[in-house]
Amino acid sequence: MNVTEALTQRTSIRQFKATPVPQNVLDEIIDAALNAPSSSNTQAYRIAVATDDVCDSIRNELSNKFSKASKIKRMPMPLKIVKGLTSGVLPDGDFNPNIAYPKELKQRSVDCGMGLYQTLGIERHDHRARERQMQRNFEFFDAPVAIFLFIHEKMGVYGALDSGIFLQSLMLAATERGLGTCAQGALGVWGSPVRRHFQVEKDYKLICGLSLGYPDEHVVNDYRPVKRTRSEVQFSTKAGAVQPVRA
Ligand SMILES: Cc1cc2nc3c(=O)[nH]c(=O)nc-3n(C[C@H](O)[C@H](O)[C@H](O)COP(=O)(O)O)c2cc1C
Repeated sequence: MNVTEALTQRTSIRQFKATPVPQNVLDEIIDAALNAPSSSNTQAYRIAVATDDVCDSIRNELSNKFSKASKIKRMPMPLKIVKGLTSGVLPDGDFNPNIAYPKELKQRSVDCGMGLYQTLGIERHDHRARERQMQRNFEFFDAPVAIFLFIHEKMGVYGALDSGIFLQSLMLAATERGLGTCAQGALGVWGSPVRRHFQVEKDYKLICGLSLGYPDEHVVNDYRPVKRTRSEVQFSTKAGAVQPVRA
């Protein structure tokens, strides 16, 4: 598979087989991704790779937090506030995942969610089914591996940029080996379960997670959101802005 083939074949996978990923394959993918470029070669990111019992334990913790938080959201006031504050379900991740998207981008995000629900046959107003699908994030879509990505807090946007390049490199190396992936901002909502299982240095902040495994034959994996075209992302040149080059 060449790079362009990997780029076009990679798509977010949201239902995995239980088949374990051999340790040597996992190591190969990570080693390949570590070739990614980074600001001054700092590689200001770290990962926590959860497999086997550790993966299952974090999966259970996150999924329970999500279930509890969803139940509390449906409670009447003021019980909702009391339970919310006392049940250990308040988000304790390092970044706020609730970004108010600007209008121009909001529509794309809505279309993306709607497209996914349509693929799954979930009606627009079926909140329970949508909630259940959201919960699948915290179950890692049944993947046997979950990777949590951390960035150094002092590196600002460059840490995020570097880690993003690394993340895509991981996903492409996985695609080449017949594996599926789903990058998940949702896995940054609660940080305590992964910090309980891994020795995460305090300067490193959880930015997102990645589920990884062999794709299952499931309709959800057929979903292909519409990408922007080249002309949509390229700014037009300004007429008359080119200055004559002095000899
Ligand atoms: C940083 C990042 C965070 C994401 N978070 C989630 C998530 O929490 N849950 C999810 O199902 N997909 C998540 N995705 C996957 C995107 O929805 C997906 O990449 C996008 O819709 C384009 O689809 P494609 O990956 O199939 O090309 C995330 C992707 C990225 C890069």
